[in-house]
Amino acid sequence: MKVVMIGAGYVGLVSGACFSEFGVEVACVDKDANRIRDLIEGRIPIYEPGLEDLVRDNSKAGRLSFSTDLNAAMAGAEAVFIAVGTPSRRGDGHADLSYVYQAAREIAATLTGYTVIVTKSTVPVGTGRRVAEIIREVRPDAQFDVVSNPEFLREGSAINDFMRPDRIVIGTETERARDVMRRLYRPLYLIETPIVFTGLETSELIKYAANSFLATKITFINEIADLCEKVGADVHDVARGIGLDGRIGRKFLHPGPGFGGSCFPKDTLALVRTAQEADAPLRIIEQVVASNDARKVSMVSRVTNAVGGNVRGKTIAVLGLTFKPNTDDMRDSPSLVILPRLLEQGAKVRAFDPEGMGEARKQMPDVDYCGSAEDAMSGADCLLLLTEWNEFRALDPRRIKALLGKPVVVDLRNVYNPAEMRAAGLTYTSVGRPAGSSSSSEPA
Ligand code: UDX
Repeated sequence: MKVVMIGAGYVGLVSGACFSEFGVEVACVDKDANRIRDLIEGRIPIYEPGLEDLVRDNSKAGRLSFSTDLNAAMAGAEAVFIAVGTPSRRGDGHADLSYVYQAAREIAATLTGYTVIVTKSTVPVGTGRRVAEIIREVRPDAQFDVVSNPEFLREGSAINDFMRPDRIVIGTETERARDVMRRLYRPLYLIETPIVFTGLETSELIKYAANSFLATKITFINEIADLCEKVGADVHDVARGIGLDGRIGRKFLHPGPGFGGSCFPKDTLALVRTAQEADAPLRIIEQVVASNDARKVSMVSRVTNAVGGNVRGKTIAVLGLTFKPNTDDMRDSPSLVILPRLLEQGAKVRAFDPEGMGEARKQMPDVDYCGSAEDAMSGADCLLLLTEWNEFRALDPRRIKALLGKPVVVDLRNVYNPAEMRAAGLTYTSVGRPAGSSSSSEPA
């Protein structure tokens, strides 16, 4: 079986590499010739644990190839995936579908026999049907079906999420297309992964509803964390106490500085717009978007308060810049809201992140980037922990105390134990935990 993956970005590359690992022949096509050359030479443009090995092994085995030539790649392909970007459109928050529609037009020109055209990118309800119209306009003779097959990959664990998903969602109208998709995902049938077959619109909405629900869970626990601080309760115990109710579930109840990344901020906003236009407003999600935006800004005052009311002239050591660990992705990261405000208020910011500094440098040139966590902390007036990389979790509180100029720590991911921090002589602020707490974070 052969498929084509259009877009060698995050989703296309992970999906393409994983399908080839299933034994499918995959041709990844991208317009960016530099990116394709890098991939052919074994250089992976993104940081994702396990991806490099998967790409190398499957390329060597001849199952995975990269090119800029869609027409040649399409020869003999039973399915073609559209995995191009759908960024938020400037101004109105709608998803920008120009890359998707462009891909549809290009696919249309290459079609020969029956082909399944799959939207893998996160696309608003109605996009699949529009893709089908575009293809029919260009090629009224073509034999094809359009399928919606959203991805649920988390950065940092994308390979595992692809190989062992909770479910696969496939939206299409015809049995012929379903059969192609079933054969493609055959290895997952063998491990009894539930497959949800739906219509096109339903499948498209499932993706947005899933991400918006998860974003709502995070925002809910963030607001509960704020309340915990006021009333002397412990948010981790609240999360455990409610999460053990199977109807609620324990995951995604970890408080922090607000959700970021390439999906939740963009998808909640796009769903809000879709719902407004459909005259079925999603007021809960509207509030989630507003609450999360405000939260990132409000994190600045935690630092200000911790250093005595004013950051002017103070050196803040920031550990973690990416929106979450195990990725180099800076998109919508809380750091992009918090750090510029600290700088505006006259702080000096020294930062370290294991993977995110290349991109951070471009977006925040006034930050002083350091070679290590220890280097960033040396002599600083405050340590601000923003991303829960394992190497930061492992820091010894006594070592932190010895390195800092002033013993002040603001931990917005609750990775340290408040009692241990206090015992080391540090003034410790975290999220939603009373000072004497010894609770710790649950993995998301
Ligand atoms: C998400 C979805 O999980 C995935 O299914 C979808 O396909 C793409 O979007 P991702 O953006 O990679 O994946 O990261 P995720 O692990 O979901 O975290 C998103 C944001 O929420 C991060 O900023 C993270 O720090 C935050 N988060 C997550 C919390 O603050 N608390 C939690 O309990 C969980």
